[in-house]
Amino acid sequence: MAPRIQIINGPNLNLLGKRQPEIYGAETLDDVARDCEALAAELGLELSFYQSNHEGGIIDCIHAARETCAGIVINPGAYTHTSVAILDALNAFDGKVIECHISNVHKRESFRHHSYVSLRADGVIAGFGTQGYQLALRRMAVLTA
Ligand code: DQA
Repeated sequence: MAPRIQIINGPNLNLLGKRQPEIYGAETLDDVARDCEALAAELGLELSFYQSNHEGGIIDCIHAARETCAGIVINPGAYTHTSVAILDALNAFDGKVIECHISNVHKRESFRHHSYVSLRADGVIAGFGTQGYQLALRRMAVLTA
């Protein structure tokens, strides 16, 4: 059976393409999902997508992935820098975790330089624009083979 990967996007990422396009680009989250689906078919992965502006929804999604998914690609948005609860949920997930940021967080404000999620992530991608999700899936295909 093809490994299933859960892609999770956190707060404000529903506005991708409209929100600060000079930082996050012109592609929408639907564009990202479409490109990821096409690549996943090539790589032999099954995908699930989830976006929420709420910390609890993201945590519930991570819990559900415990039963169904071999890996999680997560862009926690601003929760990256604040959420011990999302870190704890990821620590209760046994599969692979890749943290993905559209912008290069290290080139930005100092409060974006620390990530709770990085304490759990098997890999981190930042600054590759929306292409980062595809790079994360390519790595997931190797990690979950
Ligand atoms: C982000 C970076 C975060 O600092 C920010 O709060 C976001 C998006 C990124 O994809 O570059 O919402 O995770």
